[in-house]
Amino acid sequence: MVGKICGTGSYVPPHVMDNDDLAKIVDTSDEWIRERTGIGKRHIIEEETTSYMAGQAALRAVEQSGIDPSEIELIIAATSSSDVVFPCAACEVQKTIGAVHAAGYDMNAACTGFVLAFNTAQAYISAGIYKTVLVIGADSMSNLVDWNDRGTCILFGDGAGAVLLRAEEGTPVYMAAHSDGGKGQALTLQSRHRKDWDKESGEESYIYMDGQAVFKFAVRKVPEIIEEVLEKAEMSLEQIDYFVLHQANRRIIEAAAKRLKTDITKFPMNLEEYANTSAATVPILLDEMNREGSLKRGQKIMLAGFGAGLTWAASLFEW
Ligand code: UT7
Repeated sequence: MVGKICGTGSYVPPHVMDNDDLAKIVDTSDEWIRERTGIGKRHIIEEETTSYMAGQAALRAVEQSGIDPSEIELIIAATSSSDVVFPCAACEVQKTIGAVHAAGYDMNAACTGFVLAFNTAQAYISAGIYKTVLVIGADSMSNLVDWNDRGTCILFGDGAGAVLLRAEEGTPVYMAAHSDGGKGQALTLQSRHRKDWDKESGEESYIYMDGQAVFKFAVRKVPEIIEEVLEKAEMSLEQIDYFVLHQANRRIIEAAAKRLKTDITKFPMNLEEYANTSAATVPILLDEMNREGSLKRGQKIMLAGFGAGLTWAASLFEW
């Protein structure tokens, strides 16, 4: 059995900060941000929380599927910015959508989280353990960045995306995942409870990133893992309809397409509108593609994520 996507949903906060707004806070410009990243704006939470966004995305996915929430057996929420340590975001989502029979837990692999959660759900389904699984990626990066650091604050936004999987007979899902803890210092966050951390240690806790190291890692590892999954599936690049990559930087996606010698039109992007929403980028993009009618049954979709850890993962499935 494989987990077929029977519903997608997403939520981004209505409050928008464009590049000109950022230029009033840090020494940057719309021109620099667009040229180096492709980002034009980001949606930022005001009253919303990570769990709230996750719940709204989940409600939309469940509504589209037509499946009764009581049939959902498992909820996995990929997030590194849950509002509280516990209860986990997945249990908050359970409450919001009324998935009374579901088990729920969170997974944290930063920006790679959604692809790993998706693969985990597929493994449960193919093992016959669960039939109906909700997978969410949700993050409030605006709570984690230093708004005085122009090297990071321009990159991120807030949002959530969800997919509902239902067991069906079908083409297997092929997947791969890797980590390199030895290079973990390239992208770190000491604590998501910034104020408490400050009191204890006197240090500030924000996202620290060696941007160039992460850039080089992504450009090398994303094409590698895509090739690895294709080899497992005994398929060629030409057979893939869409490569849905983590939306961190347009230049990373363009470089990956170039290395794979694949037309950039097969690499959809929405980071101009939302920036990098960490674990939420892939499911938000999938939801947009689904709702605008770009996805047709039988198409082959390759997901690929990368981020802190360092971690990277990919998944190939038939829509
Ligand atoms: O989910 C994974 C998360 N992370 C990523 O995907 C990040 C991957 N890395 C990147 O996207 C890029 O490295 C950045 C967009 C972060 C930076 O782009 P870059 O082309 O690597 O720039 P750089 O760090 O080499 O900086 C070039 C110059 C520097 O000035 P000098 O030293 O040449 O005078 C920076 O101080 O640009 C300066 N700079 C800025 N200027 C205007 C850095 N940030 C900004 C800014 N506005 N926001």
